[in-house]
Amino acid sequence: MLAAGCRPLPPSKPEALWSPEEARGAQVFQANCAKCHYPTSTRGNKGPGLQAITKVKAMPSGAPPTDERMANTILRGRGMMPATQLTDEQLSDLLAYLHSL
Ligand code: HEC
Repeated sequence: MLAAGCRPLPPSKPEALWSPEEARGAQVFQANCAKCHYPTSTRGNKGPGLQAITKVKAMPSGAPPTDERMANTILRGRGMMPATQLTDEQLSDLLAYLHSL
């Protein structure tokens, strides 16, 4: 990933250490995002890999990975990425999970 340069990205948090929010967020991810994004790799699928997505300076689009930007992308869609309808709770669980990647 360009923003990370050649440095290896920090590893994702292991499943055994997930909080309840992160575990629920992982289910939201499986149901809505996994078909297009690998969570623990930067390898692209239909969309970019999301490993360490909240720890990089910029997402593939160049936008900083703030919760606000990610929530906007998720709820409104972006380019070839469709909008996803989530409840407030599903969204906050999903964001907690994205922070664990
Ligand atoms: C049908 C495939 C598809 C699904 C489903 C999908 N995405 Fe994406 N996603 C994409 C594509 C394609 C892009 C690249 C969009 C662009 O920048 O043009 C993307 C981009 C992103 C980005 C980077 C945005 C940026 O600014 O660079 C994030 C974060 C993301 N998706 C998260 C998610 C999450 C979380 C979900 C589940 C709620 C999800 N996506 C569902 C295809 C998908």
